Amino acid sequence: DHNKLALPVGTTLDRFIMRKQEDFPYATGELSQLLRDIALAAKIVNREINRSGLIDIAGAYGSQNVQGEDQQKLDVIANIRFIRALRNGGEVCTIISEEDDEMIQTGNNQGKYVVAIDPLDGSSNIDVNVSIGTIFSIYRRVSPTGREGTAADCLQPGTHQVAAGYVIYGSSTMLVYTTGNGVNGFTYEHSLGEFFLSHPDIITPKTGNIYSINEGSSDSFSPGVAAFVQHCKDQQFSARYIGSLVADFHRNLLKGGIYVYPATAKNKSGKLRLMYECNPLAFIVEQAGGKSSNGTRRTMEIEPKIPHERCPFFIGSKELVEKAESFIATDT
Ligand code: AHG
Ligand code: MN
Ligand code: MN
Ligand code: MN
Repeated sequence: DHNKLALPVGTTLDRFIMRKQEDFPYATGELSQLLRDIALAAKIVNREINRSGLIDIAGAYGSQNVQGEDQQKLDVIANIRFIRALRNGGEVCTIISEEDDEMIQTGNNQGKYVVAIDPLDGSSNIDVNVSIGTIFSIYRRVSPTGREGTAADCLQPGTHQVAAGYVIYGSSTMLVYTTGNGVNGFTYEHSLGEFFLSHPDIITPKTGNIYSINEGSSDSFSPGVAAFVQHCKDQQFSARYIGSLVADFHRNLLKGGIYVYPATAKNKSGKLRLMYECNPLAFIVEQAGGKSSNGTRRTMEIEPKIPHERCPFFIGSKELVEKAESFIATDT
């Protein structure tokens, strides 16, 4: 029952976080502080993105990340900003990031939390002024405090998330997050420098008529995936694919639809990364009444083996994800 916690539209994010914390009498405020740290970094990154056409921070950085992708300057800048905010905030012992090969130890060994982050999602859209995002996921560490976080702290299944969210730097900038008690969206008012509650208690439609998949790779779709895509066409669904996961997900969350990144010849386990792309969005979609799967299994129940693990991704309206799964079941 999320409603007893309802706060009016226009509530600031800070106040919202504070009031939610009061609903948990034994909460110490550390998670609240961590969420505020992320919001601060989001504001800073938002500022960098907004002026990226004017100063020399668009374009390639000149190196590749562990994913084998050309890093963009904003990938690197966003990564630095989020890590710095989490380090200064003090609540996080260890971070895993798309842009770093290894775990990042913040030096806050008393910190109770670990964060998995995609600092800048939709890199290929930076230079062409199309929506991009940030995705984050928060876990409670399982190892004792007083020392560095461990691989076991960072490699928990998505069901263990205590919070997850994303920022979309779009026609407006929004922060959407969950702490496991529904999903709320906040819109940034840049002249005031505040996020305000604009989308309380987001519920995603049970079904929809949008499908989002990069059909350029359709030659290597499995028969089940190909049949599902054909089904979407038979139903005369709308094809919508921005190429920024956050933006594609956000649209489908609000309007109803399905996002698919399947296994392809180029990306045998799919392209998207379990820890900092799939699991956080899976937590959000489930909290909004939707569903997320790798085609055969609930995303959040996958036991991660490595930080940069990839998985096929089917996410969105419950009925559509179930439909996709029923087609994929014919693959085996
Ligand atoms: P990132 O920019 O964080 O590396 O993520 C890129 C992802 C995701 O945002 C997007 O949905 C997907 O890559 C697009 O991949 P394709 O270009 O293969 O469709
Ligand atoms: Mn990337
Ligand atoms: Mn990404
Ligand atoms: Mn990224």
